[in-house]
Amino acid sequence: MAIASESQHGMWSSRLMFILAAAGSAVGLGNIWRFPYVAGENGGGAFVLVYLGCILLIGIPIMASEILIGRAGRQSPINTMIEVSAASNANPAWQGLGWMGALAGFTILSFYGVIAGWAISYIFQMGSGSFTGADAAFAGNAFSSFIGDVGSVVGWQTLFMAGTIYIAARGVGAGLETTVKYLMPALFFLLVILVLYAAFTSGKFLEGASFLFSFNVEKLTWDGVLIAMGQAFFTLSLGMGAIMAYGAYLPKGASILGTATTIALVDTAVALLSGMVIFPLVFANGLESSSGPGLMFVTLPLAFGQMEGGALFGSIFFILVTFAAITSSISLLEPAIAWLVEKRNASRVKAAILVGGVAWALGLGSAFSFNIWADFHLIGQMTFFDVMDYTSNNILLPLGGMLIALFAGWVMDDQMAREELDVSPGIYKTWQFLARFIAPLAVLVVFIMTVFA
Ligand code: TRP
Repeated sequence: MAIASESQHGMWSSRLMFILAAAGSAVGLGNIWRFPYVAGENGGGAFVLVYLGCILLIGIPIMASEILIGRAGRQSPINTMIEVSAASNANPAWQGLGWMGALAGFTILSFYGVIAGWAISYIFQMGSGSFTGADAAFAGNAFSSFIGDVGSVVGWQTLFMAGTIYIAARGVGAGLETTVKYLMPALFFLLVILVLYAAFTSGKFLEGASFLFSFNVEKLTWDGVLIAMGQAFFTLSLGMGAIMAYGAYLPKGASILGTATTIALVDTAVALLSGMVIFPLVFANGLESSSGPGLMFVTLPLAFGQMEGGALFGSIFFILVTFAAITSSISLLEPAIAWLVEKRNASRVKAAILVGGVAWALGLGSAFSFNIWADFHLIGQMTFFDVMDYTSNNILLPLGGMLIALFAGWVMDDQMAREELDVSPGIYKTWQFLARFIAPLAVLVVFIMTVFA
């Protein structure tokens, strides 16, 4: 069976470009917006410890699995799963994994675009200087009245989605690669500046650090463990085929395990550094670490408002958040776009508009969750937004990741996997052990314990 050696969609021009693209996918709202607030809601240290364990034992082996399956198949996740299953004499039903991934992509993008839209708006809100000298009450009210205004929330979401569609439509080389090549280095540079700012001005740097790193395990519940695991999948972009799609464009010969480890390290560093920007500022201003999704949108404007040049730096911060979000959202569209191009022979432009348009429309439900649908509870106490966030992070991604690990570890032709990974037999066995047993069992145990504990 002959699987193409290059992808019809184009290729990354080097291993470094793949790392930037995959790190661009991984580093996003999950790191800067979501990680600090879920860590805050779940008590800090112990949560972070579980999260780090999940990155190491589940995240890295599954990321390697996604890349290797993707590179072996060289197509959209759905067709890659069909092709690699066939080459491995496995049941074609494994393509279901590709379908589930596309579904998860829409689910995630639906709320992702809304939050990213908030970030764009905050570039201007900060830049206008309206937070200069503001107090906590002002920052809180500014945020609630902003998200309460359906027109502006939908408007900014629409702008963000249009940008995502535009970049995706331009293709792998001219669109995705060009974007990550410039935005990722800029992002790292500015993050470092902000950490230094928080360290030198807040006077609470150690308090912030000890909140993140004092591992007091009593505070941990099984729900917290599930959320930490879900966060590990979300932040690494795992479990839905985004990294598989990107892996399809990775040149032969580039080391997959080394690459996966690098991406995980970069992503973890950005999450921890974001925490080290946000928590010192939270404590310096006497704010609650557990204030939920608004943490970044209330705390940071407030803190910047107190500093010299805060309007400028604050708006730069939100430019960065927007960049981080864009390099992630393009990867959420890629699996479905690639599939439409392969299956329907659609042009990339049409495919991007169609897929992005569906994600935008679904996202309206999340946009409304903060205003006209704020009292509408889809399940239990959860709004539409909450349900999208919860099901994707805590169900679809871990389940998808578990199945990807099982496929790579047990089902995929051993010779094929071995050739793709191209490592010493000892390292291969270690990866295989993690993919066969540790990663799937860990997901299973956490699922069972959250249901029964
Ligand atoms: N990892 C991104 C973040 O942390 C979000 C993301 C992009 C993602 N692509 C994904 C999450 C695919 C899950 C699957 O913001």
